[in-house]
Amino acid sequence: MTLEITPIDATLGATVRGVCLDALDDGTFAAIEAAWYAHAVLVFPGQHLSEEAQVAFSERFGPLERVVIKIHAQHNPAVIHLSNVKKDGTLWPANSETGLLLKGNNDWHTDSSFKRIPAKGSALTARIVPESGGDTAFADMRAAYDALDPAMQAWLADKIAVHSYAYSQGRVGGMTGLSEDEREALPPVQQPVIRTHPATGRRNLYIGRHASHIVGEDERESRRLLERLCEDACRPPRVFTHRWSVGDLVLWDNRCVLHRGLGYPADQPRHMVRTTIAGDSGVTSERVA
Ligand code: OGA
Ligand code: MN
Repeated sequence: MTLEITPIDATLGATVRGVCLDALDDGTFAAIEAAWYAHAVLVFPGQHLSEEAQVAFSERFGPLERVVIKIHAQHNPAVIHLSNVKKDGTLWPANSETGLLLKGNNDWHTDSSFKRIPAKGSALTARIVPESGGDTAFADMRAAYDALDPAMQAWLADKIAVHSYAYSQGRVGGMTGLSEDEREALPPVQQPVIRTHPATGRRNLYIGRHASHIVGEDERESRRLLERLCEDACRPPRVFTHRWSVGDLVLWDNRCVLHRGLGYPADQPRHMVRTTIAGDSGVTSERVA
């Protein structure tokens, strides 16, 4: 097999063929890691990895986060099940606790930006795909930064945003799916609005649905600004949408990419399995009251 990396028609993303992710030699892994830094999102069609193989592949990039929202957990504490299918095979309604937690993913976000040390990357595989919808979209925050006018780049350079799960999840119907302990484990945190990627040195915007407002600025106005930045950022040519087939794996870099689910009919099953590669630095350690 020969590794084949084909860029997607956007500023980010590439499709990778000619590799079995459950039998990776070090040389092939190095080529995949380099491609990941170049393209920020890699689509691996038809991998059909077991949960264990997905964990092993993800761990090559670093230690994995543990699931904090128990509703998404099954056996392995490092594996998140994003699924509307109950154990008995029937579906959770859209307005159930599970349905509302899943719905939150339909707004542009980067995984775990509401944690003090946010995620480095995520790997998502498709187990059950609805007949229509359920695609996932990705947006390039490197190119979005490059497209800002220099005055805005300069103004944002030292800005810090408050990221809060209570804020973002409150907007889509609340936190009722979370226990008191889970809520307490997720206090608001601070993240810089502009990050520099440790591997590539490229700057990027770091925003999304968990970003509530900018520290030291008017809360409502800075919230509006963050929303406008996000809207402008997530436009062509900086976006692409992946239509899933069962067995696909998509790996994205949470440090410089936003993503969102596109929704699907409530009477159709969808089951995705995610592993999350932990970040290695919290940029500020202060919590916000
Ligand atoms: C995720 C996520 C969106 C989707 O896995 O982190 O946001 O389409 N998924 O399931
Ligand atoms: Mn996500």
